[in-house]
Amino acid sequence: MNILILGSGGREHTLAWKLNQSSQLNKLFVAPGNAGTSKIATNLNISVNDFESIKQASLLHQIDMVVVGPEDPLVNGIHDFFLESDDLKHIGVIGPQKAAAELEGSKEFAKKFMIRNKVPTAAYQSFTAEDVEKGYDFLETLKPPYVLKADGLAAGKGVVILNTIEEAKAELKSMLVDSKFGKASNTVVIEEFLDGIELSVFVLTDGKGYKVLPTAKDYKRIGEGDQGLNTGGMGAISPVPFADKAFMNKVHTQVVKPTVEGLKKDNLPYKGFIFIGLIKVDGEPQVIEYNVRLGDPETEVVIPRLKNDLVTVFQAVVNENLDAVELEIDERSATTVMLVSGGYPEAYEKGKEMTGFDQVEDSLVFHAGTTIKDDKVVTNGGRVMAITSFGTDFKAALKKSYSSIEKVHFQKMNFRKDIGFDL
Ligand code: AMP
Ligand code: GLY
Repeated sequence: MNILILGSGGREHTLAWKLNQSSQLNKLFVAPGNAGTSKIATNLNISVNDFESIKQASLLHQIDMVVVGPEDPLVNGIHDFFLESDDLKHIGVIGPQKAAAELEGSKEFAKKFMIRNKVPTAAYQSFTAEDVEKGYDFLETLKPPYVLKADGLAAGKGVVILNTIEEAKAELKSMLVDSKFGKASNTVVIEEFLDGIELSVFVLTDGKGYKVLPTAKDYKRIGEGDQGLNTGGMGAISPVPFADKAFMNKVHTQVVKPTVEGLKKDNLPYKGFIFIGLIKVDGEPQVIEYNVRLGDPETEVVIPRLKNDLVTVFQAVVNENLDAVELEIDERSATTVMLVSGGYPEAYEKGKEMTGFDQVEDSLVFHAGTTIKDDKVVTNGGRVMAITSFGTDFKAALKKSYSSIEKVHFQKMNFRKDIGFDL
């Protein structure tokens, strides 16, 4: 099997690391990849949204399967692009078709899907510039804080939570009338605020059956104690201790089952990962969002816990016989701590030489924003490297990650020292 992974983050390095362990793998390619993937696969200098170049590379390298990391190409229809081409349609694609990718591409679409399929979620209404006045009236009916969501993809920045009605109205105007997030905020979803603790559940489906992967919790804020700006994710743990059996049973019956059945009923073709962002409110699961891919850095703790051959699992997804696969999960806890560039998520410098990561022995090192320059590994993004460890519980695992981090150096390196602090 020749496999092409699309993406360049820690998620993609983790997938490459895992696929690379399969005896069924012949050649592995990553587009565009990072310094980490270049050591175990062939990086191709192609953007994830350049479908024509992806087609040429797939033909040239006789690719049998494409694994899509990020949401953008899925929302742009990469799976449909493969199906519609006579030269490419024999290639399996891991990731939903465009119609189903709207679950992440449009918050309003996702809310309608949840309501239609009786998946528990916060009450909401959506508004456009024409009915901004109605939006102000709806805000008046809610209690603070106020949750405003740009409908479209906004690079993870489209959700704004405000404490006063004045701020909420000003934000609604800025999104709808002043196009704060461009086209993404032509429609805005306003929803009830849910007070609880968050976690993520990952589901793999072949469109017929499904498998639930381990739970994970990520830490999105830059600062300790969950203070400061949102980031792509500063660390993660798996499993989530408060997702006990009773709660997960509710997740299965109230959320996962109606979601997968809803996809079938609504004719939304789905072969890939469903990332369900959940919040536990008074012991009950509520869905905050769907993503149509794996999370980053959640992948760095979920995938290492999977004992199965990932090529076999993905082939079962392509062939629609996932029901025949039994997932084997490592009992141990996994944690990951993200090393980031000083200044991130605001302005930061790139090109800092990195040392010591090759001396890490007790943890797995997954590259994110790294590249090779003059034969040296240098930083190339805000989130630079994820350090994953196993332990009997998340505290033991974290201890290993933090001790491995002591070996890694680059100028202005920053990381959170309190992953798991709230558990
Ligand atoms: P999203 O981009 O949909 O993941 O939203 C970003 C973050 O906003 C989530 O991870 C939650 O922390 C928060 N959030 C979104 N919707 C709600 C809600 N209805 N109530 C409380 N917090 C929310
Ligand atoms: N860690 C959150 C995400 O991947 O969207």
